[in-house]
Amino acid sequence: MTTPSLSIIIPTFNERDNVGPLYDALCVVPMGLDFEMVFVDDDSTDGTRDRLAEIARHDMRVRVIHRIGRRGLATAVTEGMLSTTTPYLAVIDADMQHDERVLPAMIAKLRKGGTDLVVGSRYHEGGSIGEWDKQRARVSALATKLAGLITHSDLSDPMSGFFAITREAFDGAVRDLSGQGYKILLDICASSKTPLRTQELPYRFRTRQAGESKLDALIVWEYLLLLIDKTIGHVVPARFVSFMAIGALGVLVHMSVLAMIMETARPSFAWAQAIAAGVAMVFNFFVNNVLTYRDRRLKGAAALAKGLASFVAVCSFGAVANVGIANFLFADYRYGWWLAGFAGVLVGAVWNYAASSLVTWRA
Ligand code: GDD
Ligand code: MN
Repeated sequence: MTTPSLSIIIPTFNERDNVGPLYDALCVVPMGLDFEMVFVDDDSTDGTRDRLAEIARHDMRVRVIHRIGRRGLATAVTEGMLSTTTPYLAVIDADMQHDERVLPAMIAKLRKGGTDLVVGSRYHEGGSIGEWDKQRARVSALATKLAGLITHSDLSDPMSGFFAITREAFDGAVRDLSGQGYKILLDICASSKTPLRTQELPYRFRTRQAGESKLDALIVWEYLLLLIDKTIGHVVPARFVSFMAIGALGVLVHMSVLAMIMETARPSFAWAQAIAAGVAMVFNFFVNNVLTYRDRRLKGAAALAKGLASFVAVCSFGAVANVGIANFLFADYRYGWWLAGFAGVLVGAVWNYAASSLVTWRA
């Protein structure tokens, strides 16, 4: 076996019945150069790994990276690429939805020179999104428009998970990747210091035969965070923005609970306020656990209980700091109540964010 010139990176999460057919399909593609296949599996629970091991035993071109305790398509692809040294890189989904027969044309464009990135596009002339329902097609079109705002290219399908890139171009972007969410291609385009010279090739998005999509509603939130990270991320971290947005929602929860208690039970105001604050904290903990810290998400009753306890402790301290600072500023009426109040809230919020990321959701 000669050293390969192309590494095909294949992210997998619960794709047991797809990896075999994909491997077979890749083997008969007339690639025109020696290649290796790097599967990056996030500890699938359906036996994908055993299937991959079987394949790798018979073919030296196949490698498997097994990640434990991690989830994320973007980081899986990045780590797969980082594990290789070939001059050309390609990414393809494991579920046969991408058309592997387009790969040779993609690679040919890169080898010709003058192109850094070739993207398989569902929207380029001749391409198609296949059998997507209207709803998903609309969401995808909107996301594509938004993406145009942050990438410096005019890709018709910047959300594509199917592309080929030169090692040089990847190296030029990899240090600034946000690693947020699903959209690795978008991340690479937005992180590259020099605009990438791109080309597109159409393909028809196939219907999934086995298993199911891992794209859920949370992906939309992750996508927004990626956009935030790439636009104002150098000023405020996207995670902080997420934490604040959920915090603002928490205020709404607090006020609703307070209103409900005051309207119905009419206990002492202090009690009502304390209960409302407790409910808001629990709400904030669970929502942040799913949205802000998706990658470090706490799971299982024990971990959740411990996390909730530390979050409540952190936030209680934050509340004390909040009141203390506001009170200090308000003393002698040096600052108006609203400025003092706002300063207290801000300090408390920053504290909650910083302390909970270090304690509750320790990396
Ligand atoms: N290692 C790893 N970790 N792999 C993952 C993860 C993860 O957390 N989540 C998904 N994958 C793998 C899947 O196993 C599959 O091989 C591939 O990534 C795509 O996941 P799907 O769940 O099938 O996504 P999709 O079909 O809804 O969307 C795909 O195609 C679109 C069109 O090209 C993705 O590639 C999108 O990014 C893309 O826009
Ligand atoms: Mn898919």
